[in-house]
Amino acid sequence: DGDVIRRDRFSGGPARAFLSSMDHDERLFAADLAVDRAHVVMLAEQGIVDEESAGAILDALADVEATGYDALDGEDIHAAIETAVIEHVGESGGRMHTARSRNDEVATCIRYRLREELLDTIEATLVLREALVEAAREHVETVMPGYTHRQAAQPTTVAHFLCSYAQALERDTDRLVTAYDRTNRSPLGAAAFAGTPFDIDRERTADLLGFDSVLGNSMDAVSTRDFLVEAASGWSALALTLSGLATDLIEFAADEYVEIHDDYASTSSIMPQKKNPDTLELVRAAAGNASAGLNGLLTTLKGLPRAYNRDLQEATPHAWAAVDAVTPATEVAAGAVATATWNEDALTAAAGDGFATATGVADLLAANGVPFRTAHEILAEAAEQGADYAAIEAATDAVLDQSLSAVVEREAIEDALDPAASVTSRDSVGGPAPEAVEAALDEAWAAIEAD
Ligand code: ARG
Repeated sequence: DGDVIRRDRFSGGPARAFLSSMDHDERLFAADLAVDRAHVVMLAEQGIVDEESAGAILDALADVEATGYDALDGEDIHAAIETAVIEHVGESGGRMHTARSRNDEVATCIRYRLREELLDTIEATLVLREALVEAAREHVETVMPGYTHRQAAQPTTVAHFLCSYAQALERDTDRLVTAYDRTNRSPLGAAAFAGTPFDIDRERTADLLGFDSVLGNSMDAVSTRDFLVEAASGWSALALTLSGLATDLIEFAADEYVEIHDDYASTSSIMPQKKNPDTLELVRAAAGNASAGLNGLLTTLKGLPRAYNRDLQEATPHAWAAVDAVTPATEVAAGAVATATWNEDALTAAAGDGFATATGVADLLAANGVPFRTAHEILAEAAEQGADYAAIEAATDAVLDQSLSAVVEREAIEDALDPAASVTSRDSVGGPAPEAVEAALDEAWAAIEAD
């Protein structure tokens, strides 16, 4: 068949395997079939290809779909499907490639498939947000130590901690939705880069393929992979959130503040007593794969001139590597959060550790007229002298030259020293007080429903 021989003119030599993207193209199989179908339907509707040829091509595409990816052979998925169509239909199968190029074809296929990948990740972030909010609802009053510099800093609650990740994930979802919106535009019909003399209908193929709109300038349409950069940076940002959550859970599990469910733990091959949070460590490692994908994209795309360059073929797998790491990590994190058991007794007992209520006492002195910096000094002194009422009393005497009881009642100080009371007092918007967290939970839930 003349068509086939001409197209394969350069692809039989020693560089054939080097040129081929077949190893990565299976991911675009369904997308390419959809793009071929939409294009052929449009060509027939526009009278560019006769209905008989179009019908035969569509039948051939159904056969190609049925025989599957492994039956295909060619330099890439686009050439391989075209070859198979021509084998089925005969020479007129070559009409399928009228008014297009592999350049607009591959860009369209990647966008088509990427939408699905983005939706899967978005869905996974919603499941994780749900798991966090549901677990938080159970622990609005479970006080726990909050940390800065990995040192007990101020008491907070498990709900406040979990909501901090739900809120971060809300932004992660949002970034992926934005990436989806910009991905969802059709380059098809840009042809090699310079459009086509045929009277094509780009809106029609965009519509058939579910794209929101047509990507106008035909040179930009085939050149850009910025939508992959955006998706991969969205995945990287999400992976960063996951990595922090994973580390917190790993450390809390080591402190026996939380128990990771057996389904998300593994044993040691030698130490019989061990239960290791391996899944969470792998969740944490997803950030490496995500940022590797992002960096692979950025460095591959850097400095590429207009319009199409074959470098672009190497860009795409970086995006798949990123999403293959991040979506499963998000799903596993959701499962681990949903099944974890928080050890309320251990958390409550630890909540006041390290004089974590010192800031609350300083706030109380400041609310009673002592300049905050002076109150800070008193509590720093008290921290060194025993971190209890007597120490605060002695420090007040020394720093203020005034008795503590003249500043504020003993009962109020005792209250401020109590982790639960300390948490309840911090009821500013977004704070850990149960009523503030209840309000945040309602908002977090509404945001999940809206997304
Ligand atoms: N497999 C190629 C890719 O992923 C398809 C485009 C080939 N186009 C070309 N002009 N050689 O980019």
